[in-house]
Amino acid sequence: MTKPLTIAIDGHSSTGKSTLAKALAKSMGYVYVDSGAMYRAVALYALRKGWVSKESGCDAAAIESTLDQVQITFELDADGVNATFLNGQRVEEEIREMAVSHVVSHVAKLSEVRRHLVALQQAMGRNGGVVMDGRDIGTVVFPNAELKIFMTASDDVRAARRKAELDQKEQGVSFQEVLENLKARDKADMERSDSPLIAAEDARTLDNSTMNREDQFELVLDWTKNLLA
Ligand code: DC
Repeated sequence: MTKPLTIAIDGHSSTGKSTLAKALAKSMGYVYVDSGAMYRAVALYALRKGWVSKESGCDAAAIESTLDQVQITFELDADGVNATFLNGQRVEEEIREMAVSHVVSHVAKLSEVRRHLVALQQAMGRNGGVVMDGRDIGTVVFPNAELKIFMTASDDVRAARRKAELDQKEQGVSFQEVLENLKARDKADMERSDSPLIAAEDARTLDNSTMNREDQFELVLDWTKNLLA
């Protein structure tokens, strides 16, 4: 049997990375790991402790010294959702709220946080057969991944998709707030000194501004199957 692949999906915020990654993992029988959920879980932990705020950044020393007390796990629930748990409590919905989106970049730029989470991510993908999405998967977490995809789309398309998602959860967020948040997160991701968001040299770029979900999935499934052929 051919060795199962490691698939790294990186890209800008709200480009549909996790939707694609989940569908691909399901179709291939691979494990799906949402690395962004891990950064969001640490951000939520820090938010609850009062160690981070949108305006004044974060207390790096406090966060870094308690990382070993932050247990992040994923569990498949009855609806087939791979839900995120923080110290045993389900936080899948809470980590997606704007309160967390507003502070997560402050936490994601801390080198100690990144080192800690990268080690966990590498352990989860040790045996291959994994689809992981994030910002540094093809560059830092799995530089030897057999398939690397870098996803992007226009700002307006991304904000509209994200707002539609948030509207379903009745968060009452404006289009402008969503647009500004994703642009701010992209900027922070691309400009941080540790593991900035950048396409790996051997990544295939996927701009899905005008592509539907089904066509995109078929294209990536073809790439995957060709690598296994
Ligand atoms: O994928 P997401 O939007 O849920 O990720 C949340 C934040 O975490 C994002 O703004 C950047 C950060 N992140 C990161 O720095 N590295 C990753 N591998 C994944 C996410």
